[in-house]
Amino acid sequence: MDKSEEQMRKPIRLIAAACRNMGIGKNRQLPWSLPKEFQFFLNTVTAVSTPDKKNLVIWGRGSWSSCPAGVLPFANCLNAVLSRTLSAVPKHAHYLCKDFGSVIRLVSEPPLCHIVETIWVLGGPAVYKESLEHPWCDLIYLTDIMADFDCDVFFPKFDRNVFRKQNGFPGVPDEIHEEKGIKFQFQVFKKEA
Ligand SMILES: NC(=O)c1ccc[n+]([C@@H]2O[C@H](COP(=O)([O-])OP(=O)(O)OC[C@H]3O[C@@H](n4cnc5c(N)ncnc54)[C@H](OP(=O)(O)O)[C@@H]3O)[C@@H](O)[C@H]2O)c1
Repeated sequence: MDKSEEQMRKPIRLIAAACRNMGIGKNRQLPWSLPKEFQFFLNTVTAVSTPDKKNLVIWGRGSWSSCPAGVLPFANCLNAVLSRTLSAVPKHAHYLCKDFGSVIRLVSEPPLCHIVETIWVLGGPAVYKESLEHPWCDLIYLTDIMADFDCDVFFPKFDRNVFRKQNGFPGVPDEIHEEKGIKFQFQVFKKEA
């Protein structure tokens, strides 16, 4: 990381929901439909401290394509889609980036360096993995879906001695929720310095 990037540092935060085997998706979709969990996700990624700020949301092409069009655009968010094959910015997205480094450069330079508050990483697995390794990554929001689902994509392994589970994290309810007979709990893991 060069000096200008360091000065423009923004928090990179992952957000995902994973079931017991750490599965996150099946057949290009979420394996479950949990409206309250989805609302927590939306509330989290769209939260900004002042109306002039925005969050940059990073999506792999697969996750972007699997997002139901009806929920886009997200309030207060700029969408960056990662793809090596697309040649045009997809509808409702703002940026098309060929690699993770391009996203970091984008937020390190004007105008985005003045506007973007938080970088939220929305998946999929390879994008999560690359984000976890970035020095700006400080938090993982990972909903524990306390059930078994057949999945074909998985949240990457991460070191729980480096990212420590938090108790009573601000804005994140600790209790176990239940929807459609499925229990789930919001969790936050914070990178220890
Ligand atoms: N449960 C959850 O919280 C959650 C969250 C997100 C997604 N999901 C699920 O995950 C599945 C989608 O995941 P996916 O496997 O399709 O992964 P994905 O990361 O969303 O999409 C993979 C594609 O993204 C592009 N890409 C990824 N990393 C890149 C990089 N560093 N540089 C440039 N392009 C990059 C590539 O596109 P090109 O092939 O165009 O180059 C790659 O083929 C769905 O089932 C979805 O529902 C679940």
